[in-house]
Amino acid sequence: MSAKGPNHGAPRHVAIIMDGNGRWASERGWPRSKGHRHGVEALRRAVRAAGDMGVEVLTLYSFSAENWSRPETEVRFLLELLRRFIRTDVAELHNAGVKIMMIGCRKGLDPSILAMMEEAEALTRENTSLKLVIAFNYGSRQEITRAVQVIARKVAEGKIDAADVTAAVISNHLDTGGLPDPDLLIRTGGEQRLSNYLLWQCAYTEFVFLPEYWPDFNADLFRRAVEEFQSRDRRFGGIKAQTA
Ligand code: IPE
Ligand code: IPE
Ligand code: MG
Repeated sequence: MSAKGPNHGAPRHVAIIMDGNGRWASERGWPRSKGHRHGVEALRRAVRAAGDMGVEVLTLYSFSAENWSRPETEVRFLLELLRRFIRTDVAELHNAGVKIMMIGCRKGLDPSILAMMEEAEALTRENTSLKLVIAFNYGSRQEITRAVQVIARKVAEGKIDAADVTAAVISNHLDTGGLPDPDLLIRTGGEQRLSNYLLWQCAYTEFVFLPEYWPDFNADLFRRAVEEFQSRDRRFGGIKAQTA
């Protein structure tokens, strides 16, 4: 069976836009913060399911560069949730062999959060099971802009020739440098947009949009999204694999 055709195996890299926490809570007459708290449980389920299915890289959109525009109380709550997640879950993730990586802009972040992130990355650096990539203060256009600035500086300093700036060079200068591109992107919450997530990396990614809100995400929904992915014919600009 062709690796590109239907029935290919588990996706190597799954990226998720964890959306719908606020609506999940509002529909129940609860504050949005309760949706975010339940969202952390869904995140734990997603990490476990990814490991069980043999996914190599799981990239989760936890806070976008644009999410700072939310009311200050909500922003503060989300930062506190991340802090708490790192404090309570990193040891267990480390024991399970998970390698934690953070993507997004680190400049201007609260120093205590930054220190916790860096500690989690350092502790788990040598781990070889699931790579858990957390996109925090992440925006794809900002990431590409930062990469272009670094490359432009190298060109100006004569370290690299402009003609040698290939797509691979650009990929390697992104926060996701060294990781395979996502095979499957799942967005919960019913919206069908990327919201500034992994624009470069998703050139040939399969998208699965789920109507369910993120706090309801579970292993079964994850498995069904993977099955949907496996039924797709990935052509990468070529033509459908011939059977004869
Ligand atoms: C996703 O849920 C969590 C973050 C963006 C941090 P939302 O908070 O966006 O929930 P909705 O989309 O408003 O329902
Ligand atoms: C995308 O969700 C960001 C995260 C899930 C962290 P948003 O809720 O911020 O996206 P929009 O505003 O609906 O595009
Ligand atoms: Mg949302």
